[in-house]
Amino acid sequence: MEPPPSHGRLITLEGGDGAGKSTQANLLAARLERAGNQVVATREPGGTPLGQELRRLLVTPGDDPPVARAELLLYLADRAQHVARVIGPALARGAWVVCDRFTDSTLAYQGAGRGLDEAQVVGLSGFATGDLSPDLTLWLALDPAEAARRRADRGLADRLEQEGIAFQSRLATCFARLAAKEPERWRTVAAEGDVATVAARVWAAVADRFPEVAG
Ligand SMILES: Nc1ncnc2c1ncn2[C@@H]1O[C@H](COP(=O)(O)OP(=O)(O)O)[C@@H](O)[C@H]1O
Ligand SMILES: [Mg+2]
Repeated sequence: MEPPPSHGRLITLEGGDGAGKSTQANLLAARLERAGNQVVATREPGGTPLGQELRRLLVTPGDDPPVARAELLLYLADRAQHVARVIGPALARGAWVVCDRFTDSTLAYQGAGRGLDEAQVVGLSGFATGDLSPDLTLWLALDPAEAARRRADRGLADRLEQEGIAFQSRLATCFARLAAKEPERWRTVAAEGDVATVAARVWAAVADRFPEVAG
C-alpha cells in the first residue's frame, strides 16, 4: 500500500462573480470526501474569524469604500491569517484543501481590475502567503453576460459584484493570461451548462491533475 502523503494538496477555484465557484467548490469537497480523503473546504475572504470581519468590511457597500491599495491590503491580511490558521495546518496534516478564491483572484481583481501594478501585487501576495502556491487552480470560465444573469437570479449584488461587464471582462482576460503562464497548475473548466455538467468537468480536471484520486 502507498503511504499517505505527508503533505496535502491545495485546490483553488477562480473565476468571475457568478461563475459557479462556490457551488462547485462545495460539490468538489463532498466528492473528495466520498473518495475517502480528509478535506477542508474554505473560502476567501472570510475563512477565519478575523477574515469574517475583513469580509464584512470588503463586501458591504459603505460611505468610505477602501481605495484600491487599502482593498488589496485587506484581502492580503485575510489571506495571511487564512494560510497561517487554516490552510497551512490542514496541508501539514495531509488534508485536501478546497479554497473558493485565492491569490489569483487578487491578481485579477486588484491588479487587472483596479489597475494596481501586477509585479507589486505578486510580491505582496508572496509575503502574505509565505509563497504558498496551489497544486491545482480551476478557472471556471463563463461568459460575463451569462454570469450576470446568474447573479441577477441570486439577488442583491455586493460591492465588488456591482462592477460592470467591462470589469468582469478584464478579469477573464487576466485569468486566461495567468493560466497560459502556468499550464501545469491551471485547468480551465467551461462553466456553462447545468450544475451537474460543470461538476463532471471539474472532477475530470481534478482526476487529470491527480490520477491517484480517481482510484
Ligand atoms: N451551472 C449553473 N447553472 C445555472 N446556475 C448556476 C450554476 N452554477 C451555479 N448557479 C447559480 O448561479 C449563482 C452563482 O453561483 P455561485 O456558485 O454562487 O457563483 P460564484 O461563487 O462563482 O459567484 C447561484 O445562484 C447558483 O445557484
Ligand atoms: Mg461565491
